[in-house]
Amino acid sequence: MSKSKTVYVCQNCGSSQSKWAGQCGQCGEWNTLVEEVLEEAGAKLGQRSATVPKGLKLSDVAKSQNQTQRVSTTISELDRVLGGGDSGGMVAGAVMLLGGAPGIGKSTLLTQVVMGVATGGGKLNGESKSNGNSKSGGDKIGAAPNNRQVVYVCGEENPDQIYLRIKRINSNEQQKQTQTESDQKTSTKEILENNVVFLTTTNVDEVVAYLQRVPTVLIIIDSIQTMTTTDLTGVAGSVGQVRECTDRLVRVAKQTRTPLFLIGHITKEGKLAGPMVLEHAVDAVLELTGDRSEEVRLLRAVKNRFGATDEVGVFKMGESGFESVLNPSEIFLGQHDGLTSGAAVAVVMEGTRPLLVEVQALAVRSYLPTPRRIGRGLDSNRLHILTAVLEKHLGLPVSSYDVFVSLTGGFVTKEPAVDLAVCLALVSSITNQPLPSHTACVGEVGLLGEIRPVALFSRRLKEAQRLGYSTVIAHHQRTLRSATEAVGLPTKLIKPKKGE
Ligand code: TYD
Ligand code: MG
Repeated sequence: MSKSKTVYVCQNCGSSQSKWAGQCGQCGEWNTLVEEVLEEAGAKLGQRSATVPKGLKLSDVAKSQNQTQRVSTTISELDRVLGGGDSGGMVAGAVMLLGGAPGIGKSTLLTQVVMGVATGGGKLNGESKSNGNSKSGGDKIGAAPNNRQVVYVCGEENPDQIYLRIKRINSNEQQKQTQTESDQKTSTKEILENNVVFLTTTNVDEVVAYLQRVPTVLIIIDSIQTMTTTDLTGVAGSVGQVRECTDRLVRVAKQTRTPLFLIGHITKEGKLAGPMVLEHAVDAVLELTGDRSEEVRLLRAVKNRFGATDEVGVFKMGESGFESVLNPSEIFLGQHDGLTSGAAVAVVMEGTRPLLVEVQALAVRSYLPTPRRIGRGLDSNRLHILTAVLEKHLGLPVSSYDVFVSLTGGFVTKEPAVDLAVCLALVSSITNQPLPSHTACVGEVGLLGEIRPVALFSRRLKEAQRLGYSTVIAHHQRTLRSATEAVGLPTKLIKPKKGE
């Protein structure tokens, strides 16, 4: 194959040059030159005169819409994040980018999707109607369960490592199986071994050729930063390579209507490695976050062309892979008896789902000229404001205390609805008196010491009551002072004792 010509195009001014340089000779910007394949002028000209696009009538679109069903990933929390309500999941031909820090569990999550889809756990579009013999793209999704090829492109690990991971995930399943189910277990194992195909190449053109030839129901690229095309001279992971490879994969996914997952790395600054254009090119960008030392992982959609971006999936990383957490409030609530000072329960919304989270506060006498305000899981600036409000409107000497506030379970929120819980937890810590048990707090605290109502209050209230929190302190109390009195905490000035 003849090698394509490449040029370096400035991403700022659009000028091109034949050699890479740190600075663009035209506009003077630094690090903006990206390698691109040069399309031959003749080919462009030919395209221009030859192809007349075929228009689609709205009725054609409506017909194909009716046939578009979502394919379940077999993992309920992932389906929820991908969108589509109760029958949520992947759309045929959708390209989804899964980003996250190293070791957070991207490969594990997608290995579980591979296993579920390969063994027929997910209900696939038109499966019952199709005989699985058709070669057309649309019918591929209807292949029979024992002919449901799921492709895993392993650029980072070798197939042996992935096989070990599959065995690890399966081990728990096998323990749960009873003797009577052993026949079924063997057949599931056979189907899995038959349907999962590994591609060990990092050449994107080979992957594209494979997808065009072999009917595939799902493909995973682990990871996009390892993919290269020989048409470009840049190394794997360079902006030009990542962009070109993504472009080619997106095209083949749409053409063959195969759902495609790309795994992407996150840089030290917390951005998806590779150009922003990577995010523009795909249909959905999912981000797996969480503390590596804690077992809870949250999956959020940063962008989703086929669903909402405010849903969050909650997982627990166990000894055999991820488990979907159907009742997340349980893991974000503290383990103590509820009679410890410094703790308050807040109800926050994650997407459309209310969650109960415990706010823990610790206030200790400060010996520093500027007392510390440290928040884990919430904004430290917000904490500065809330401590100032407490000082001014409750007369508490917060400025003499170092303040540490944390949300349990590694939870992170930007919602102002936690304000009231943060304030009451702080009052509780300073006064050494616990809040009454079975009490939750919901409300934004304003600079005037007032409690403001928050969105979707009734849903929060219902969730709190469902989990046994019979008292909910909220905007009905109007001011922080009356809320503090309502939970039986003192509001008058308290002088810090020595050593407290
Ligand atoms: P991995 O999925 O390889 O992360 P990524 O692809 O995002 O870099 O591994 C995630 C971590 O999870 C790894 O440290 C091992 C751990 N793990 C478990 O705790 N339980 C399991 O069942 C598996 C498969 C992995
Ligand atoms: Mg990995």
